[in-house]
Amino acid sequence: MLHTNTPFTLILFGASGHLARMKIYPALYVLALKKRLPENFTIIGFSRTDMHDEVFRSLVRVAIEKDMPEVNTIVLDQLLSHMHYCQGQYDNQKDFEKLAGRCEEQEDGWKNPVRLAYLSIPPSVFSVVLGNLCKGRVHDHKKGEDFRCIVEKPVGNDLQSANTIIDELMQCFSEEEIYFLDHYLGKEAVRNVYYLRYANPILERLFKNTLIHHVEITLAEPKGIEGRAGYFDAVGTFLDMFQSHLLMISSLLTMRLEGDDDFSSSRQNALEQLYLPPALSLDDVVLQGQYSGYDDEKGVYKNSRANTYAALKLLSRTSRWQGVPFYLRSGKCLEKKETRISIQFQEPHTVGEGSHPNRLDIILQGEAGMRIHLQTKLGGSEPRFRPLLLEDPLVCVGDCLPEHGLLLLEAIARKKQWFLSFEEVRVAWRLIDPIQKHLQQKSTPLYLYTAGSSGPAEADAWIARDGIHWCT
Ligand code: BG6
Repeated sequence: MLHTNTPFTLILFGASGHLARMKIYPALYVLALKKRLPENFTIIGFSRTDMHDEVFRSLVRVAIEKDMPEVNTIVLDQLLSHMHYCQGQYDNQKDFEKLAGRCEEQEDGWKNPVRLAYLSIPPSVFSVVLGNLCKGRVHDHKKGEDFRCIVEKPVGNDLQSANTIIDELMQCFSEEEIYFLDHYLGKEAVRNVYYLRYANPILERLFKNTLIHHVEITLAEPKGIEGRAGYFDAVGTFLDMFQSHLLMISSLLTMRLEGDDDFSSSRQNALEQLYLPPALSLDDVVLQGQYSGYDDEKGVYKNSRANTYAALKLLSRTSRWQGVPFYLRSGKCLEKKETRISIQFQEPHTVGEGSHPNRLDIILQGEAGMRIHLQTKLGGSEPRFRPLLLEDPLVCVGDCLPEHGLLLLEAIARKKQWFLSFEEVRVAWRLIDPIQKHLQQKSTPLYLYTAGSSGPAEADAWIARDGIHWCT
């Protein structure tokens, strides 16, 4: 069972931001509740907002109470007593020196603490924060402290900016100290995509191009941008969800099964094998949409062309998957939360009425589960069929931690297997960059869809051109 006895200081940049409130504080609470935190630890929120410790603590309390069905107030109060706030400007070295001082005060008397900087900040302030982390001696090489720098996705907004960020990181940290985090890789159900293959040779034998017709991966969300216009309007769904989460899920499905040591390079190889269907123009390969009313959202530019929906067709060069189309789609303000992989097998021999292709659904969120769509003969002298559905709820059983909690413990334990390597980040951008450029052109259509629907009608027509429809 993963827990840590190592004393640590976690510095959260972007402490009043959406990610911290939605994911990080609730995850820390679960770690506290499950007794996974050491006796000595400190969480220091750093951001531009002017507030003192007590206001910060009540912000954290509200964030935790909002989503948890039941909160243990003793555990919560104890956790809050470890939380502090440091107000500062990202471009002011003196504020970072003050922050370094706060860390030292807290760590006084601790044995071999780990210090972690968690960067959940917009790309526009990244560079300046990195520079000041070293100049302000929050990270001081000479002291030889045990440091981790955790960087939330997306790393930059294209290959060039990602490379710049990597260069800047390397001026302050060594590669071993840098942890690129995609929280989908901390989800048990997502990790299970790989382990299901590992543990079930029958599945692995079925996963090959002679048997599979196509794969669909859907990350649909009913929620909109939830006040994150500052980040989202400059990024859009395609960069927000495809460059990281959707490509990672695709690589877990197509990567070679390897031992733990080669995990990241094997994932990277699988990513490198993904490519755009060569005979098609980009207009046929990718499609984008925006929900009606998006540009009335607070903070969104009038006539914004940010996509809130996108669909993409990819192929893989791996021998097993060669020729199998992967249809990836994601959108905001859709009818329901659905995170699903659907693997559709080749058409059956038509022996009678009502026979459909077999399908395996791996549902990663929402009502998580696994479904195998088979069919069975109806009574009678004619061969007619009815659907036969085998399902299991696949609910996480065992030591189930929220993704950010699990990844934090793994970072402290220096387990890097589920963090992205530099090269994985670069490979993903190499694939995404030309598509993003295409989507940004004014001549590329942006289809409107109604909030609460299943997305633009054009996305249905787009996939129908290949003779299929989105799985329901
Ligand atoms: C984040 C995106 O990475 O993932 C958000 O920035 C998105 O826009 C979120 O809503 C979805 O994550 P989850 O865990 O709620 O599926």
